[in-house]
Amino acid sequence: MTFEGLDGCGKSTQMELLAEALRRDGLDVVTTREPGGTPTGEKIRGVILDSRTRSLAPMAELALMFAARAQHIAEIIRPALDAGRFVLCDRFTDSSEAYQGGGRQMGSELVLTMHQVVCGDLMPDMTILMDSDAEASVARARRRNKANASDGVDENRFEKEKVEFFERVRAAYNKIAVREPTRVFKVNARRAKDVVHPEIVAAVRERMLG
Ligand code: TYD
Repeated sequence: MTFEGLDGCGKSTQMELLAEALRRDGLDVVTTREPGGTPTGEKIRGVILDSRTRSLAPMAELALMFAARAQHIAEIIRPALDAGRFVLCDRFTDSSEAYQGGGRQMGSELVLTMHQVVCGDLMPDMTILMDSDAEASVARARRRNKANASDGVDENRFEKEKVEFFERVRAAYNKIAVREPTRVFKVNARRAKDVVHPEIVAAVRERMLG
């Protein structure tokens, strides 16, 4: 299953909390993330997210996302699923549909076609969409990335986008949630993390483990 949402919506924290809860239930949980998740994927991540990467063509950006994803599936996701493990992934194709399809206005159809070519029928059984307004999420992500910058990590390229970009991303996410209600569980992420967490655990237990 996957976690999705705008930058700074708190999804990474919620994913870790869920992983801990599922491990306490005795499940064999693997946590991973995109773009990245593998040594090669992390190199691609560096290219995509570094704000020193100038004038990256939208199609190149999309292709790099799927390049990292192809490696991630081959090296991590497939082997884990084949071994019967529970895979929790921070972002997957919905991110490409929301950010490149919506944010960069490349459209859903192209992204879903690429998904078919690269990933075949591999889709998460369940997706937690952490919904939050663009303004607050971006402000939070910018603060975090400024703090990381002192460690020499620059992951600012997307956060430099305007609020309108993130509003398009959010709208695209919401369209996916409406289109696929049985897969996508939307939570209001603008609440305290100890309020959001039990809601996610309850939904996962009901839909995945029930
Ligand atoms: P992430 O590390 O999850 O950032 P955050 O913790 O701030 O949410 O994701 C990095 C960025 O990559 C994020 O701005 C979204 C973007 N992204 C895409 O644009 N398309 C994709 O397919 C993926 C996986 C990520």
